[in-house]
Amino acid sequence: MRNVTIENVSDVVIGSLGKSSEVSVRQREIMTSLISHLHGFVKDVNLTHAEFLGACDFLARAGHICSDKRQEFILLGDILGVEVLVDMISNPVAGSESESTVLGPFYRENPPVLPKGASTVQKAFPDQETVYVEGYVRDADGNPVVGATLDIWEDAPNGLYENHDPDQPDYNLRGRFETDENGHYALVAVRPVPYPIPEDETAGELLHFMGHHPNRPGHLHFILSKDGYRTLITQVYDADTEWLDNDSVFAVKESLIGKFEKAPEGADTDLVLRFDFVLREADAVQLAAE
Ligand code: BEZ
Ligand code: FE
Repeated sequence: MRNVTIENVSDVVIGSLGKSSEVSVRQREIMTSLISHLHGFVKDVNLTHAEFLGACDFLARAGHICSDKRQEFILLGDILGVEVLVDMISNPVAGSESESTVLGPFYRENPPVLPKGASTVQKAFPDQETVYVEGYVRDADGNPVVGATLDIWEDAPNGLYENHDPDQPDYNLRGRFETDENGHYALVAVRPVPYPIPEDETAGELLHFMGHHPNRPGHLHFILSKDGYRTLITQVYDADTEWLDNDSVFAVKESLIGKFEKAPEGADTDLVLRFDFVLREADAVQLAAE
């Protein structure tokens, strides 16, 4: 095709997609929609060539700062509400199961495996409030899920995750726990504080371009998994934290808000958080997907 025009360019590019022997049905679906929406966006805003080059430079810089400590594209997706949207589409709530929310960029695989009730706190901060976190993991019928794995991670009282803070011990405030024969889990952590997502580099440029702040409400991250059940990636928010109604990554759900209560007299921690989870059986997910 030689005579590409504003009117026909989208059809021409979509028409250039390979034959079905070269391109799967899903690839065709994705590329057709991507090309249509990208072209629609460029036309909508009358994108200038300087802006196009600026966007290319922005993406190149985002790529260059990615490392095993910083996944800039997840951050950009979070700031734009894309990760939360993908999560809601992938994990629709069909019954009584707990809601999921974004993973974010700070998860580390293979956290320390700790016994029930152990502490994830390796370094004490002067202003910290310790919290005993406990609850039950059940299936949709209320039966205990025995031997479920819970990965938990959170920021320190200085607002930093350990892998972004050279002054914290490796894997501080991270741990892997298991539910007991009653589906019960327990651990000691610190009260999570609100923190700004990284606002330097391209994530910061995007936030400033949008005129949005970087702050997240205080939360604990969880990944719950057990064979036969849908893996639940979620967060539990402190009912008394700031930013619940204006999260920079749009990830708060009412059902994920928990109350940090004052611990009883003589307890080993300052606070107690009780939070139960319901896991959905994997079969039910597959049936819903079909
Ligand atoms: C987090 O909760 O750790 C997080 C989520 C999205 C972007 C940045 C951080
Ligand atoms: Fe977080």
